[in-house]
Amino acid sequence: MVKGSVHLLLFLYLSAISVGIAGRVVPLHEPFDKSTFSRSFSSIFDTSKYGILQLNNGLARTPQMGWNSWNFFACNINETVIKETADALVSTGLADLGYVYVNIDDCWSSLVRDSKGQLVPDPKTFPSGIKALADYVHAKGLKLGIYSDAGIFTCQVRPGSIYHERDDAELFASWGVDYLKYDNCYNLGIKPKERYPPMRDALNATGRTIFYSLCEWGVDDPALWAGKVGNSWRTTDDINDSWASMTTIADLNDKWAAYAGPGGWNDPDMLEVGNGGMTLEEYRAHFSIWALMKAPLLVGCDVRNITAETFEIIGNKEVIDINQDSLGIQGRKVHVSGKDGCRQVWAGPLSGHRLVVALWNRCSKAATITVGWEVLGLESSMSVSIRDLWKHEDLSGDAVASFGSRVAVHDCEMYIFTPVSASRSAV
Ligand code: GLA
Repeated sequence: MVKGSVHLLLFLYLSAISVGIAGRVVPLHEPFDKSTFSRSFSSIFDTSKYGILQLNNGLARTPQMGWNSWNFFACNINETVIKETADALVSTGLADLGYVYVNIDDCWSSLVRDSKGQLVPDPKTFPSGIKALADYVHAKGLKLGIYSDAGIFTCQVRPGSIYHERDDAELFASWGVDYLKYDNCYNLGIKPKERYPPMRDALNATGRTIFYSLCEWGVDDPALWAGKVGNSWRTTDDINDSWASMTTIADLNDKWAAYAGPGGWNDPDMLEVGNGGMTLEEYRAHFSIWALMKAPLLVGCDVRNITAETFEIIGNKEVIDINQDSLGIQGRKVHVSGKDGCRQVWAGPLSGHRLVVALWNRCSKAATITVGWEVLGLESSMSVSIRDLWKHEDLSGDAVASFGSRVAVHDCEMYIFTPVSASRSAV
């Protein structure tokens, strides 16, 4: 079969995913291109919930990208750190790659509200106030994020926003804030489903476009309801800078793959790349899998002092492009083999009739990982051209039926698979 006609069939398949008038994406599964994808394709990459729940506030058409203070600085933040970070995002080129949100986490505010009941930036660490910081960040073409809590205190015992939603949202909007991370501590035992919508409504009422990031740690299965509330929702407890934490969180987040889509994303927490607790291979895996899972890409290291190795990972444009792909379907774990299932294949559909495929070695030594077309929902006769996103090269010769590679311990190789034609015998 000639290449052109395969592309036409693929186009017809992808045309079956129609975009509604309000920008909401409605999945239609049939007909799909049977010469490329097998019947199992739509069950492997189940998108039955894709696009049906998402908020439509115009934000998060692709996962948010930026930086957050918590993973590296915890409470040791001040306005100088935030400004220098904004400077560094620009000077390193990370901003140009899409990392535009500069998000201040917990500890920016004073321990008590003022006499009028308003939140006050800590005068010692943020003496110029948040508006000045927002102006500074905006002048660099970046956006400013802030943090509060759907409870009476934040996790570090600053005032929370429950019962102050209107006041606090108006204050954030008046400062020029673009993003709110809304945490879950000191929540009075009230269900997240009751505590998170009032802040959505308060943010909407300000008239300012503010990204709403829910952080209820996955306690009430937010993938099932938070799409109508926010632009992303944490699916797990906090990440820490270790292999055990990162792999556990990846698996927990994977469960909710069918619920992500443009407008609302599963959030397996922020990146630890560059913080020192994992090997470079492990960080490469962390970044690859977060990108493939359409996770928010929020850098969590000190970008003012970023090393070349860290930049090579979080600055990999080809991997970022997987995360920001316009189709917006969360990739997932599609096959495991070996001891404890440590040889893993993760994959997902991409725009342009392509697939992203990651071979992730979670075993304790180097291993060969092979992916058969059947686990990708590809017809076994398909010829596939393959690009390696970490080596930045096209592999010579197309693959048919399967593809394997020797993967270093804990490393993750990442490829784009482009079906090019069915082999002669299948035509
Ligand atoms: C919680 C959140 C973290 C961070 C801290 C700040 O643990 O899940 O991401 O915001 O609070 O105190």
